[in-house]
Amino acid sequence: MLLLNLLSFFSILGLTQAVLIRPFTCPGDAFRALNLRCCHFYEVVEDLKMNLFKNRCGGEAHAVLRLTFHDAIGISSKLGGGGADGSILVYREIELQDRSNAGLKKALDILEPYVEKYPKVSPGDMIQLAGAVSLTVCPGAPRISFFAGRPYPRAPAPPGLIPGHFHDVSTILARLGDVGFLPHEVVALLASHSIAGAHNVDTTIRQLTSSLSAPLDSTHDQFDTQFYLETLLAGSTYPGTGAHFGEVPAAIPGTVRLASDHKIARDPRTSCAWQSMINNQSKMKIDFAAAMVKMSLLGQSLLTLIDCSEVIPDPLALRSRTANYPPEQRKSNVETTCKILPFPNLSTQPGPATAVSPIPQI
Ligand SMILES: *[C@@H]1O[C@H](CO)[C@@H](O)[C@H](O)[C@H]1NC(C)=O
Ligand SMILES: *[C@@H]1O[C@H](CO)[C@@H](O)[C@H](O)[C@H]1NC(C)=O
Repeated sequence: MLLLNLLSFFSILGLTQAVLIRPFTCPGDAFRALNLRCCHFYEVVEDLKMNLFKNRCGGEAHAVLRLTFHDAIGISSKLGGGGADGSILVYREIELQDRSNAGLKKALDILEPYVEKYPKVSPGDMIQLAGAVSLTVCPGAPRISFFAGRPYPRAPAPPGLIPGHFHDVSTILARLGDVGFLPHEVVALLASHSIAGAHNVDTTIRQLTSSLSAPLDSTHDQFDTQFYLETLLAGSTYPGTGAHFGEVPAAIPGTVRLASDHKIARDPRTSCAWQSMINNQSKMKIDFAAAMVKMSLLGQSLLTLIDCSEVIPDPLALRSRTANYPPEQRKSNVETTCKILPFPNLSTQPGPATAVSPIPQI
């Protein structure tokens, strides 16, 4: 037990790879492990990283990361539900009817073959494992813990539990609060939008660009704080033909701004937590990693899971550590409502404003 706690401690610090030598040789000799019961995940991780994500922070990684949330949040104190149990994979026909799950079919389609190929990995484990691996191909992302052993799902999640980009702040905070997330943890979870695209918000993007997805910030292939900055800038542009349901104008051409992100960034309950992320990469990483692990354990008991964090590789390093204003943007365009924190001093990228390219179809 002490050893286990020690290992968890190291893996939370992201140090397992660096400081501990893996003592056991796994069957087949291809991998070494700290815990023999984690052996079979090493092969899965390599397969996901190279073949599903193709070692890049693209549409596949974005889609699978989104899936982790849409599976896990399917639990409520009143209505029940299994949380992070893989029900969205097993009961996909039912859960995809939820409006907030629009656009997830593709994510399920690309993950499904791996669920079939690795029957020892439960659907709930596969979703959270793939989510943790998706982060490792996105430069700047934290290495998050992975706990294994989620039982097979017993039922679909009750309908109506998934927050959507068209919900107001009170609805979103109440829904996440019901399963234990404080407002600043909701803000931390939204770091996932730093590596995201939306393809079901503004469907005219497809007609205009023949791509499925518009990014939510200018650096969608990097886990960095630009998303928090750019969402706070006064908006005036749409990536498609104009406002759609749950869409508000964005500041950066080519990006889409979700109404929910826009409001959470400006709401008095969340605006300071939001602003505190800007240009604080380490805060974003640490807070997001903690919120992600908490989410991955919804409906699950840590007592029955094994810490297999050792199988998660180190994520890629960030290209640029400093947040800055995209071309033609400046401090006067910031719409923060946080009064108690000074706004960071940031420089502006040189050059004329150019449209961010859409994310290729998966
Ligand atoms: C980043 O966030 C951490 C944790 O909240 C804080 O201690 C630190 O001062 C912040 N750094 C900057 C440069 O604001
Ligand atoms: C920003 O720069 C101004 C002027 O140089 C300085 O007074 C202020 O403290 C700086 N603010 C932050 C948050 O670093």
